[in-house]
Amino acid sequence: MPCGLPGSFYSSLFPGRYLHIGLCTLALHNLSQVPDAVQDPRSSAWNENGTWILEGCKPETAAAYKRQFAKDFTCFLRHRSQELVPGGLLFCVMIASSIDGTSTSLPKRDHHQLQTNLQIAWRQLVSEGLLEQESLDTFNMPLFTPTMDEVKEVVCGNALQAEFEVVELEFVEIERAPAHLWVQTAAADAQTWGRTCEMMVRNFVGSLIQPHLGLAKFELLMERFRHLAAADDEVYRSSLMRLIVLALSRR
Ligand SMILES: C[S@@+](CC[C@H](N)C(=O)[O-])C[C@H]1O[C@@H](n2cnc3c(N)ncnc32)[C@H](O)[C@@H]1O
Repeated sequence: MPCGLPGSFYSSLFPGRYLHIGLCTLALHNLSQVPDAVQDPRSSAWNENGTWILEGCKPETAAAYKRQFAKDFTCFLRHRSQELVPGGLLFCVMIASSIDGTSTSLPKRDHHQLQTNLQIAWRQLVSEGLLEQESLDTFNMPLFTPTMDEVKEVVCGNALQAEFEVVELEFVEIERAPAHLWVQTAAADAQTWGRTCEMMVRNFVGSLIQPHLGLAKFELLMERFRHLAAADDEVYRSSLMRLIVLALSRR
């Protein structure tokens, strides 16, 4: 019988030894929280003047995000291991990053370009005095799109070996479904393209940013982001979607 429940997948959701098959798609990039150190001005990982792990952020900031992902993903798998029957299967499809195409040791994380433009928009408004510096210093995205190595470190690590056998672990690259439409839209009309990007950001992270800034300042940020996105064609040029497909069997 198919079953879905409200609640966080970083907690217990089903009774013990209950599930024969578990499926989690395109959701594990949502961390349980922003890493504490990233928000702490006394920490070397403090992400001052930044919103995510983007070019120019400190290696300590990136490391803190990576640690949070490892902790969260382990927690997710621990809970599912208790809920699966022996021999039960868990499938995860995760938004992933690859380490190619980067000039630094930081992987260029998926959603990089949208997030970069959003950060630039925020910084511009701060420098123009329209948003407070503190609003930027105290906001970070609780997101992480892992590389294959980062997923492997968790699923093949000692902590979970007794509980799961890896049946499949694969990195796949696919064209985003509407990629051809994006190209047509962007080429035909920059303003419509900017609006399309804005809708993606509103949908994806708007509910995190709006309570932080308040409605009026959030709208200001969206407007600036829309103008930046309209002038930037990199998003649709890099329209490949990177996924990690994972199948685990409960021992
Ligand atoms: C991009 S949507 C994917 C939805 C669906 N699984 C699919 O593949 O179409 C990401 C989903 O993850 C959910 N999500 C985020 N954090 C979560 C958590 N801690 N526990 C459960 N669901 C979560 C969000 O509510 C959202 O519905």
